[in-house]
This record gives sequence, C-alpha cells and structure tokens, in this order.
Amino acid sequence: MEVVILPDPAAVGAHAAALIAARAEATPGLVLGVATGSSPRETYRELASLREESPTRFDHVRCFALDEYVGLPPGHPASYAVVVAEEVTGPLGLDPDHVHTPDGDAAHILEAGPAYEQALAEAGGVDLQLLGIGSNGHIGFNEPTSSLASRTRIKALSERTRQDNARFFDDGVSVPTHCITQGLGTIMEAREIVLVAQGEAKAEAVAAAIEGPVASMCPASVLQFHQRVTVVLDEAAASRL
Ligand code: GLP
Repeated sequence: MEVVILPDPAAVGAHAAALIAARAEATPGLVLGVATGSSPRETYRELASLREESPTRFDHVRCFALDEYVGLPPGHPASYAVVVAEEVTGPLGLDPDHVHTPDGDAAHILEAGPAYEQALAEAGGVDLQLLGIGSNGHIGFNEPTSSLASRTRIKALSERTRQDNARFFDDGVSVPTHCITQGLGTIMEAREIVLVAQGEAKAEAVAAAIEGPVASMCPASVLQFHQRVTVVLDEAAASRL
C-alpha cells in the first residue's frame, strides 16, 4: 500500500486525477470504478479540466459505480445514477451506454446484485477503482461487520451513514434505509485501487484502515490485502497515522 500525504484537498484531487488519466491513456477502454460522495469531487473536477485540454482523452473509458440507494424514485437528485452522470460521466464525455450503476429500483431487487456482478464480469472486471471512505471505515456501502468476501448485494445502511448522508437529501425524501453495493470481495478484484480522503473527520477511519488490524469492523482495512493500492490523503485525514 502506498500512502501519499499532500497539503490540501486540491492537491489530493490533482494527484488522483493524474493517476487515473495516466491509466486511461495506457489502457484503451479502461474500466473505471467510481465512488460518489464528497471525497472524490476534486478528483472529478480535475479530470474534467484535463479533458478540456484534450477533449477525446476519456472517450473509451467504461464506468461502473460502486453502489446505489434502494427505493429512490428514478431521477432523484441524490440517486447515484444521477450523481455519477452529473459529476463524472457527463463532464468526462463518456458514452452513456458505457456507464453502469446497480439497479436500486429493480422489480426483483434480490436479483440486482448478481446481475451487476455479471455486467462487471462481462466488461472484464475493473481496471482502476476509485474509493472514498466513510467516517466509520466503510467503502462503497459496506458497513462495519460486512463480510470481507462479500459480493454485490442489498445492505441496510447504518444510522451513522444515514446521518452523514442526510445532507444530500433536502427535498423531504428521507435517506433510504437500504442500498445495493459492490461487496468487499468484489472491490478487491479491481486490478488497482486508489482511495482518496480529506479532512479531520476521516482521520480515525483512515488510521484504522491503514494501521489497524484487518477486521470487518473497519471494512476499508481489507485493502491491506490488495497488492496495488494508493491512498491519497490531505494532512488532516492523515493526522492520526
Ligand atoms: C458514501 C458512499 C461511499 C463514499 C462514502 C464517503 O456514503 N457510499 O462510496 O466513499 O460514503 O462519503 P463522503 O466522501 O461524502 O464523505
């Protein structure tokens, strides 16, 4: 695991974006796994400005989101399908046919996880997975106690995550109680992983993930077993290392 500590969130975003852009250049048709939330926003902004310099550079990138809420009305602004389109794949000019999110609105919701696993397999798996980390150490929506070998499935959201994410819901729709998320076993199959974190609120989870025991109480700690992980932190997020 390589840990890169930089002065501020802008530098974190620039570093992660440069890494992703280099991989997209080296691997035509790169399969990029994307996270939502506030952590990767600087990275996406930086990628969008790299695209302005060279408009076709991400044309062949394919994209898979980590997770989705269950039961949000289609097109809800907090749904990850909408967030990924607005923050990532739209600005990068990706072909919408090459953008996938788990189907949180599926009629047969229990089948949505295996269907997503199949789509991932058909794409050849994820080349580069970008991750944030929750304040409780979750990645994707794999909350503490998630199986380290888990696959894409329905999960209940913890109360802490629902509170953390309440800021994205301001229209009277309450934070869903459930989600569908790639499992920790699924995430670990990505050929390369980049985790970004900024701010003091993430410092404890970051320290547990990098220096703590590998344990389901800190799902991100499973990354210690991955052979190609870069963790990009600002000084505040690194302050408990
Ligand atoms: C969210 C997402 C994760 C994200 C994490 C941190 O709920 N499911 O993919 O990495 O929680 O969110 P934020 O970056 O907004 O702190």
